[in-house]
Amino acid sequence: MTAAHAPTIVADAMKILVIGGGGREHALVWQFRRTPSVRKVWCVPGNGGIARDAECVAGDTSNVGELADVAVRLGADLTVVGPEKPLVLGIADEFSRRRLRLVGPSRQCAQLEGSKVFAKRFLERHRIPTARMYGVCESPADAYRALESVDWPLVMKADGLCGGKGVLVTASRDEASSFVERVMEKHELGAGGNTMMLEEALTGRELSLIVLSDGEHFVPLVPARDHKRAFDQDKGPNTGGMGVYSTDGIISPELERQVLETIVRPTFDGLLADGLQYKGFLYFGLMLTPQGPKVLEFNCRLGDPETQAIVPRMDFDLADVLAASADGRLDRAPVAWRPGASVCVVMASGGYPGAYQAGKKIEGLADAAKVPGAVVFHAGTELRDGINYTCSGRVLGVTAAGPDLAAARITTYDAVRRIRFDGAHYRSDIGLSQSKANGAAAD
Ligand SMILES: Nc1ncnc2c1ncn2[C@@H]1O[C@H](COP(=O)(O)OP(=O)(O)O)[C@@H](O)[C@H]1O
Ligand SMILES: [Mg+2]
Repeated sequence: MTAAHAPTIVADAMKILVIGGGGREHALVWQFRRTPSVRKVWCVPGNGGIARDAECVAGDTSNVGELADVAVRLGADLTVVGPEKPLVLGIADEFSRRRLRLVGPSRQCAQLEGSKVFAKRFLERHRIPTARMYGVCESPADAYRALESVDWPLVMKADGLCGGKGVLVTASRDEASSFVERVMEKHELGAGGNTMMLEEALTGRELSLIVLSDGEHFVPLVPARDHKRAFDQDKGPNTGGMGVYSTDGIISPELERQVLETIVRPTFDGLLADGLQYKGFLYFGLMLTPQGPKVLEFNCRLGDPETQAIVPRMDFDLADVLAASADGRLDRAPVAWRPGASVCVVMASGGYPGAYQAGKKIEGLADAAKVPGAVVFHAGTELRDGINYTCSGRVLGVTAAGPDLAAARITTYDAVRRIRFDGAHYRSDIGLSQSKANGAAAD
């Protein structure tokens, strides 16, 4: 870096460490790479696609002491945490003890995601709209008994982290009983399933709203809508997310105000009232019910794939804003959004979300890169001898922004159709219903 030629950039040029190795982290890394105020990006552990945009560093993302050592060794100015696990394990506390700058909530704040019972009690205590809880079951016997006195359909939630597999919405007693057996007796989801919460089933459309906070001020990101089911028209099993879109007008300005006033602000006020200073991203999983917006869940981090659709709409310096959030000066951080829309389509391995095969050669990435405005984020790929291979269920997040949803869809699917790997599957209707509702031309 030649300081003499670019003094303003070098003066605050940052070196950033990103923790994680999926599509969300690739989107962050990709954005940092395009940011003049960033001069170095590392990613632990990264993946085959991230390796092109950042220096990947080996490390165990569930060993927070080791991650702090890595940040010190590399000389990172700022660490950004993608996944929930290190947050729930206390990475923010470890970094803070060692006076290292990090974006992410403390272990105690991360309980909003780490324990669904903790989150529900928080919501109830602060009268924030959410599904009514029927009860908390500490043993299988408790749970079988509780099934006698609930309304159907029923929502059953394992209390702890279960990698997106801990929730069942069902109208069937048999299915509910077998869920108790699998989760609480056979421990199929591990310790996260030792306690189970039962709650009322809500109806409506879902919305993801992610808010960045510095412990005092907060800034909402553009809302987005995830598609959880594996196949078109919301058919098939639940997945980690098969695609997501963001668009101006995704909700009306009144509804947006209602979400901020009845949910977001009371949440941050409630945290402070409980003596918790929440720093970092807080994800609100919302159900837009006929009675108004209600909280389904919190995540203590950015969503994936949501982040992949949100990042291309950012019209601000992400590194500066994240540093502002770590330093408690978010009120002075300029956050602006590109008008229009964005779409991210996940390309998954054959069989996903069930058993799938990995190690498939991915072809057509160079061809997809030729589509103007499209970008391919890597979620589960590895690079061997210059060739990309699949290595997990969700493989790629193909993304584009555009002046409206229909345009963003056209660009995204143009790129998607150029990519091939054995068994690949993706949904062809990401953003379609909203695009039609907006009166845009069907494509
Ligand atoms: N009370 C509810 N009523 C209706 N559907 C729900 C309810 N709670 C969760 N769901 C559905 O289950 C999905 C997963 O639940 P969520 O609470 O987000 O847990 P996780 O993401 O940890 O699996 C939600 O996205 C939503 O589709
Ligand atoms: Mg969820």
